[in-house]
Amino acid sequence: MLKILRSKCHFRNDQLNLITGFYFEVEFPSERFDLAISVQSMHHFGFGQKLSLYKRISRSLVGNGRYIETDDYVVSTEIEEKEFRKRYETLKSERNVPDGFYHFDLPFSIDSQKGVLEEAGFWPVRHHERYGNTSIFVSRKPTSK
Ligand SMILES: C[S@@+](CC[C@H](N)C(=O)[O-])C[C@H]1O[C@@H](n2cnc3c(N)ncnc32)[C@H](O)[C@@H]1O
Repeated sequence: MLKILRSKCHFRNDQLNLITGFYFEVEFPSERFDLAISVQSMHHFGFGQKLSLYKRISRSLVGNGRYIETDDYVVSTEIEEKEFRKRYETLKSERNVPDGFYHFDLPFSIDSQKGVLEEAGFWPVRHHERYGNTSIFVSRKPTSK
């Protein structure tokens, strides 16, 4: 995927810094970026994992910077969200699987997603649009007072 990006943006090769790494290990520079974008990449993370990642994304943005995320939010209510979470926890305990990162969809409701982004420090968080199972959120990092 990154090879394709590099070939499509060959005219900007000297400005691209492409990194292959685990989100929770790669170091993000402090207050460096105007914009961070994530596409279809966060739906396997639980609340705590998202909160820690969003806090790090927020720290890497300059004041008034934006974080735009599009991802699968297939549930309309927090009840449905809890059912997914329960199924996940049941499967883990039945198979004696330790906490970690797994390929299991943990869709958030729109309210929960807004909540975790706000708790990470973004304000305002705007639910831009929903397309079937996919939603787009635009979040701003406030300027420091
Ligand atoms: C469904 S793909 C979407 C890829 C691309 N953003 C797109 O829209 O075509 C999900 C991507 O998230 C990446 N991903 C998921 N969890 C990750 C993690 N903890 N660290 C780094 N990458 C991760 C996967 O490697 C994969 O490339």
